[in-house]
Amino acid sequence: MQQQESTQAFTNIESKNLLHHLAIIMDGNGRWAQNRKKSRQSGHKVGAKNVRNITQWCLQYGIQFLTLYAFSTENWNRPKKEIDALMKLLEKYLKEESQTYHKNNIRFRAIGDIDFFYQPLKHLILDLESSTSSYTKMTQTLALNYGSKDEISRAFLRVIKSNVDLADLQTKTPKQIESLIAQNLDTHDMPNVDLLVRTGGEQRLSNFLLWQASYAEFYFSKTLWPDFDTKELQEIISDFYLRQRRFGAVEQ
Ligand code: FPP
Repeated sequence: MQQQESTQAFTNIESKNLLHHLAIIMDGNGRWAQNRKKSRQSGHKVGAKNVRNITQWCLQYGIQFLTLYAFSTENWNRPKKEIDALMKLLEKYLKEESQTYHKNNIRFRAIGDIDFFYQPLKHLILDLESSTSSYTKMTQTLALNYGSKDEISRAFLRVIKSNVDLADLQTKTPKQIESLIAQNLDTHDMPNVDLLVRTGGEQRLSNFLLWQASYAEFYFSKTLWPDFDTKELQEIISDFYLRQRRFGAVEQ
C-alpha cells in the first residue's frame, strides 16, 4: 500500500506528521544465529537478506528516506573474524544490489567515517553514492562506521577548518549555530528522523542519529532482525500515524 493511501485513513495529518524518514537499528542477528547453534556471521547473512526485503517494501510503500544502522563506531570492538565477515557481506551486498538501485531509481548514501574501510570497499561505496546521486524515488542510507558523537565532532571540525571567521562565529545565535552544525552533519541533505525502530528487544539508541532523532517517535520491537518482517513494520507504521506529534507545542 502506498503511504499516501494509508494516510488518507487519518484526518488532520499535516505534512510534518507524515513518515518521511524511517530509521532502523537492526539488532539481533547474533542471537538469532546462536538460538540455532549457528555462527554469528550466519546471522548477519540472513540479516543482510532482510535488508533487501525491508528496503523493497519501503520503496513500494513510498518511504522517501530509509536509514539503516549497519556498522557502528563501537562495532570495531567485536572479534576480528566477525568484523571481517561483516565487511565482506557489505561488499557483496553492495555489488549485488547495485542494479537494484539503478533499476528502481534508489539513491544510495552512506553516513559515518568510511575512511577506516579497506580501499576497494570505500571506493565501491563512493562510486555507488556518485552513480545514484540523481535518483529520486527513495534514499537508502547505510550507517557505516557511524556514531552520532563522531559525526557531530566531525561536523564541528569541518566548520572550524572551513574559511569561517571565528570572530564572526562568536556573534551567532545558538539557533544559527544549530543550523551551521546541521549543514555539516553527514545527514545534511536529509530530513530529520520521523520514526526510529529498534529490533532485538533492547531499549537504547546506541549512539545512532542522536541529533536527527530529537523529535522522532520511537518503537522498540522484541523481534530479532532476521525475523523482522513487513507485517510488523506495517503495524508499527500504523501505530506511528495514531500518535500525536506536537514537537514541543500544545494542541490548538
Ligand atoms: C546487530 O546485531 C547488528 C549489526 C552490528 C550489524 C547489522 C548488519 C546486518 C543487518 C547485515 C549486514 C548489513 C548489510 C547492509 C549488508 P548483533 O550482532 O549485535 O546481534 P545480537 O545483539 O543478537 O548479538
